[in-house]
Order: sequence, then structure tokens, then C-alpha cells
Amino acid sequence: MNQDQIQRLESSFNLLAPRAQELADRFYAKLFTEHREVRTMFPRDMSDQKQKLVASLVLVVRNLRTPEKLHQPLVDMGQRHVGYGTQAEHYPVVRDTLVAVMGEMAGDAWNDQLESDWKSAVDFVASVMLEGAQQLTASSA
Ligand code: HEM
Repeated sequence: MNQDQIQRLESSFNLLAPRAQELADRFYAKLFTEHREVRTMFPRDMSDQKQKLVASLVLVVRNLRTPEKLHQPLVDMGQRHVGYGTQAEHYPVVRDTLVAVMGEMAGDAWNDQLESDWKSAVDFVASVMLEGAQQLTASSA
């Protein structure tokens, strides 16, 4: 990710961060409405999960300039996701749902550039998580 892209990710996230709870509420509402099949993977009470999702987004955005600090936490997170039943094809679904909700909430402050920046950022996160998942599968094969 280049400096301009990181700058755009940081400022757009700062704009939404005060509404992080709303972001998490809307993200899971949309995910479970449009992709009912994943609902059973998650706990009934989503309060903790919402906090954890927001915390992971904050961690990623804070460390975009030092991606080496993100590597191991994301590998570990990807490995935990294997236990939740997450598969590679779920990642684009989560990415598109998250980016759509961010765009709806940002309103006029949103544009195609941000859409593409955020998709790349989530793809980066997903690729490291999947690297972790694959290590786990390879070591248990
Ligand atoms: C951008 C990628 C993702 C991020 C940043 C993310 C973030 C998180 C975090 C922080 C947790 C809390 C537990 C932990 O850290 O292990 C979690 C749990 C979970 N995630 Fe994800 N996740 C991502 C992708 C996905 C995908 C694609 C799915 C598949 C539908 C998924 C399903 C779940 C489930 C089922 C749980 C466990 C809930 C529970 O049993 O408590 N996640 N996720």
C-alpha cells in the first residue's frame, strides 16, 4: 500500500471511528440478512463479537505504516478462523459487506477511490489470515 492510499484509509476511518458501534451493528445486520447461511457460525449474543471486530479494524488501521507488526496477529487470527468454520470464499463476502456499510455511512465523503482502497486493505488482511489458515491445514495434513 502506498503512502497516499494509507493516508486515505486513515482519514476515512477516523471519520467513521466515532460511529464504530453503528458500523458493527450495520455490518452484522447486513451480513446476516444477505448471507443468512453464515449466521449459525456466530454466537447468539453478538455484543462481544462486535467489539472485537472494531478492535481488529483499529489494530489494522493503526499499523498500516508498519505492516510487519500486523503479520503474526493476522496469521494467528486466520488460524482461529479455521476453527470457526470460515472458508476462503467467505472473505470476499465479508469484505464487500464491510465496504458497502462504510460507504453508506460515509455518505458524501465516500467515493470510488475509497471503495477501491478499502477493498485492497481488506484483501491484504484476508490474504495474511488465509496464509495462517493454510499453514494450519498443511501442518495437520
Ligand atoms: C477481514 C477479515 C476478518 C476480520 C478482520 C475478522 C475479525 C474477527 C475477530 C477480531 C474475531 C474475534 C475472535 C478472534 O480474534 O479470533 C472474529 C471472530 C469470528 N469471525 Fe471473523 N474476521 C474476518 C473474517 C471473517 C470471515 C470471512 C468469516 C466468515 C463468515 C468470519 C467469521 C467469524 C466467526 C464465526 C467468529 C467467531 C465468533 C465466535 O464464535 O465467538 N470472520 N473475527
